[in-house]
Amino acid sequence: MKRVAVIGVGLTKFGELWETSFSQLFVEAGAMAINDAGIDGKDVEAIYVGNMSGGRFVDQEHISCLIADHAGLTPIPATRVEAACASGGLAIRQGVMSILSGFHDIVVVGGVEKMTDVVTEKTTQTLATASDSEWEAFMGMTFPGLYALIARRHMHEYGTTREQLAMVAVKNHENAIHNPYAQFHSKITVEDVLRSPLVADPLRLLDCSPITDGAACVVLASEEKAREFVDNPVYITGSGQASSTIALHDRKKITVTDATVNAAKEAYARAKREPRDIQVAEVHDAFTIGEILAIEGLGFVEIGKGGKATEEGETAIGGRIPVNTSGGLKAKGHPVGATGVAQVVEIVLQLRGEAGKRQVDADVGLTHNVGGSGGTAVVHILEK
Ligand code: COA
Repeated sequence: MKRVAVIGVGLTKFGELWETSFSQLFVEAGAMAINDAGIDGKDVEAIYVGNMSGGRFVDQEHISCLIADHAGLTPIPATRVEAACASGGLAIRQGVMSILSGFHDIVVVGGVEKMTDVVTEKTTQTLATASDSEWEAFMGMTFPGLYALIARRHMHEYGTTREQLAMVAVKNHENAIHNPYAQFHSKITVEDVLRSPLVADPLRLLDCSPITDGAACVVLASEEKAREFVDNPVYITGSGQASSTIALHDRKKITVTDATVNAAKEAYARAKREPRDIQVAEVHDAFTIGEILAIEGLGFVEIGKGGKATEEGETAIGGRIPVNTSGGLKAKGHPVGATGVAQVVEIVLQLRGEAGKRQVDADVGLTHNVGGSGGTAVVHILEK
């Protein structure tokens, strides 16, 4: 496919941000991205906003217009994009397609979620609306519960160990220490994970991504337009999206996320790349088992070998394929609608050489964003 340039990036701090309103979060990240790109608000032709559930988390729908209004960008058209936790990744894809279609030359794509204004029970119920409400959530199933089923089955089929799951969390917490925007800056050990409170057997508190407020934005431009503003664009060279069954019990095999496999296949084909070309990746580790499924589904390691690869340090900074250098959803935080955009921000920082102490040596990176238990997956490939 033709390339689309990322010319600016912006991020808020992730965490419990009680003093910042929902729209302020987006505006803060958006202003940072616009400044980074060196453009003016009047250069922006459209806004795409990834958001999962403003209605349930902050009693706010009609988010696209709210954002355009509070950012002072009316009458620019603004569009909300929703695919549960993959809303951000899908918003990026809509921005890419709007530029590739020739409709726009410069767009802002962002994601935002404010999850901590309600109590955990309400957050859990809201997140569960991304499952099959009738057959899963209504029966009491939660997201930690769904991923726990997958983890158990993965352990049964492939011999993945409880300790290997914990090692994903240990690595991602370690990476987040060097990310000033991350929710957690705490080093943890395998022992800490194994001793943390049980959430849904076998997953424990430290296997889970947290509940997070935050926003992320990027400025996308056509290749021609990008050169007018920056000399260090990072290019999106591949984009893939796939759907699967929303309910886990309808999936042929729950230990392989077929939406990830199919989205990756499309993204690799569009970018004319293969898994072995990827040098850094941000993947959807909403739960530790999620990262193992991701590195297997994306083709970085053989199916069933994700736990072993993690244990052997292949996915650590300095390893064969560093994964979640930002700290991932696990430790950077997971404001669901913003996550897919924040992943792109991290890969852009890595490819520009601006990732500070978590910097790796890479020219080609990948982002992988999942909605629900794998009903949607979106993959992007980025290159210098
Ligand atoms: N990882 C590490 N620490 C966490 C954490 C996490 N996921 N969640 C909470 N904590 C910490 C808090 O910072 C707090 O620490 P403190 O006592 O030092 O301040 C402590 O644990 C208790 O926090 P609390 O807010 O009371 O936890 P909770 O019980 O309300 O929530 C979970 C814990 C696991 C239920 C919640 O994080 C969760 O639901 N995570 C999954 C989110 C999810 O499903 N996302 C969508 C995926 S598709």
